[in-house]
Order: sequence, then C-alpha cells, then structure tokens
Amino acid sequence: MTDIDWGALHDAAREASQYAYVPYSRYRVGAAALVTDGRIIAGCNVENASYGLTLCAECGLVSELHLSGGGQLVAFVCVNGDGETIMPCGRCRQLLYEHAIPGMLLDTVSGVRSIDEVLPDAFGPRDLEGIGR
Ligand code: THU
Repeated sequence: MTDIDWGALHDAAREASQYAYVPYSRYRVGAAALVTDGRIIAGCNVENASYGLTLCAECGLVSELHLSGGGQLVAFVCVNGDGETIMPCGRCRQLLYEHAIPGMLLDTVSGVRSIDEVLPDAFGPRDLEGIGR
C-alpha cells in the first residue's frame, strides 16, 4: 500500500479550490484523493443558477477518477477556500463510499477517520447483488 502523503493531498485540494465556480455561495471547496495506483486526483465545486443542481467538489473528483484511469480511493481530504479541512456532506460520503477501498481514510475535522466511521452501516453495491435485473 502506498504511503499517504496528507500534505500533498491538502495541497492538491487547496489548489483545486481555486478553480471552484461559486457565484452563489462564494464558498470554495477543493477535494483531493489518493488512488490505488498512487496518483492524486482532485475536484472543485461547480454551482448552478438552479441552486439544487450544484455539483460538490467530490462529484468532480469521482468523474476525474474514472476519466484518468479508474481505480479506488485510498485516502481523501476536502478543504474550503481558506485551506481549512471540512467534512464531506452526507451525500458525498455515499458517493465516495462506492469508489473507496474498504477502510479508506479521510482527514477530517476530528482527525484521520475511516469511511466506515463517517458513514456507518453504509448502503452500497453489495446490497444490490442478487437482484434480478
Ligand atoms: N460543497 C462541496 O463541494 N462539498 C461538500 O462536501 C460540502 C459542500 C459545496 C457545495 C456548495 O457549492 C458549497 O459547498 C456550499 O454548500
């Protein structure tokens, strides 16, 4: 397993936050993650005049995951425009869960935690196994 360089993840998240499109909230978010093959990916939030269509930074990050070669997320962090660590919203914890290795680590406002700690008893792909389609 690749060592986790949290400093590099924070730098990538902070850099990504500079590209956020936030004309409505003015609240920039940058997210970054380490992928199983060692690459670092990132995303920023993109808002919309139809407010509910806003894409969180994690949405861009997951798109970048697939666009740049796939794999699974090993470690994750998101920050605001001041570089402060923030928590991924509930929806995005679910989004991250689907693409995470078991036990993926997140740097959070209360220290490094696993995905299972921030999304206990998660619903996921395994719950849909065996369903006739
Ligand atoms: N936001 C994210 O990008 N990720 C999160 O996990 C929390 C919230 C964004 C959405 C919106 O553009 C702004 O933060 C304020 O809610």
